[in-house]
Amino acid sequence: MPRYHLTTFGCQMNAHDSERMRGLLASLGYDEAPERDAADLIVFNTCTIRGSADERFMGNLGEARRIKRENPDVVVAVGGCWAQSQKEDVFRDFPFVDIAFGPGEVNRLGELLARERIQAVGAFTFDGMFSGDLPSLRERPHQAWVQISVGCNCVCSYCIVPSVRGRESSRPWQAVLDEVAAQAADGVVEVTLLGQNVNSYGRDLPAGDRRTFAELLAAVAEVPGIARVRYTSPHPKDIRDDVIAVHRDVPEVCRHIHLPAQSGSSRVLKAMRRTYDRERYLALVGRIRDAVPDIALTTDLIVGFPGESDDDFADTLSLVREAGYDGAYTFVYSPRPGTEAGKQMSDDVPPEVKSHRISALIETVQHTARQRLSRHVGTVQDVLVEGPSRTDATRLSGRTTHNVTVNFTGEAPAGAIVPVRIVRSTSTTLAGDMAQVPEPAGAA
Ligand code: 5AD
Ligand code: SF4
Repeated sequence: MPRYHLTTFGCQMNAHDSERMRGLLASLGYDEAPERDAADLIVFNTCTIRGSADERFMGNLGEARRIKRENPDVVVAVGGCWAQSQKEDVFRDFPFVDIAFGPGEVNRLGELLARERIQAVGAFTFDGMFSGDLPSLRERPHQAWVQISVGCNCVCSYCIVPSVRGRESSRPWQAVLDEVAAQAADGVVEVTLLGQNVNSYGRDLPAGDRRTFAELLAAVAEVPGIARVRYTSPHPKDIRDDVIAVHRDVPEVCRHIHLPAQSGSSRVLKAMRRTYDRERYLALVGRIRDAVPDIALTTDLIVGFPGESDDDFADTLSLVREAGYDGAYTFVYSPRPGTEAGKQMSDDVPPEVKSHRISALIETVQHTARQRLSRHVGTVQDVLVEGPSRTDATRLSGRTTHNVTVNFTGEAPAGAIVPVRIVRSTSTTLAGDMAQVPEPAGAA
């Protein structure tokens, strides 16, 4: 049997696309190789969101070049966003690469492999554009990703994603529900709906066959067997009150929203073309908290965007405190080729200022998150068990509806949802003990 080795970079979209690549390769008769050196086919699923993503990939690609030099029969395939951003230049600049395909072309991997005469293509047609329509090899039996849309119609001035992932296109809602039903039948209890901007879902679907994102969320939550529904990422400009109401009214929809703010300064937000300002963002946070008081909010923040002053940065720090995030991903601005900011704005915040700001931001986020997570101490939380804890195999690990990891004592199988009494917290995790499940009424 031929063997492949796959390395994944980037976001959950890519992680999900990689499950599809695994499924596709398995159905074409490939086995997985334990390491790159042992593979007949080396696949990379790449990211290009920041310069650092490109650099990390370059190191890995260099290793593939060495392997190919030693064994010219090895096939090197590069998929994902970096591949898309390079277009045909890939083959000119990296002649040892045999196959390149973009993030919308996962379904073409098999066809491209056939063209390389590695393996005859089996029973597939390759005209689907949603990788969700392909076979999948899931990493976790009880949790699954579900693609609901591809592409992005936003024009955030720093972001390369729209140029590599293309215009937004929603997957028909029935296909989404069918996939979730099949996953539930296969033991999945938690699904995460994936899209570049999930809450503009459905706007491009034909009028008679359209569902809003809120309707889709509620429908997914009704699929028998599905106990938890998550999604990522929404754009704050598109969160409507009907989505907030679903979080309030539908218990399966988790008490967590990842709400990328990017900056706390209205001036910077305008230059980023985010289409909301600080006040509108905070008003949205207020509406969410009024409707679902205990909800967890997390975010993405960028420091060092072109022209970001000390005052702008201070606005980002104060946004973290005002919004009260349970966690945040923090990034240093990185100019990307082809983006508005990359082309037209000078990357004028000095590296030492960027580095000072990211440290200060991380500290503020940790402080706020620590305070927020401490509210759980003394409560009993429903935890979806994922398996043994990574740091201590005698304990279990799982997540709360707020998406916080809990390490706890007790015995329960992966996939079960169990009550856990929380006894300690840090800025990112909780610790506790499995609580007694109350005896059913009338039991002896
Ligand atoms: N530089 C730094 N961070 C970026 N992001 C997107 N583009 C850039 C860039 N050019 C961040 C945003 C986005 C997250 C996925 O990556 O915060 O939400
Ligand atoms: Fe994901 Fe963006 Fe990276 Fe592509 S460039 S893998 S969409 S984070």
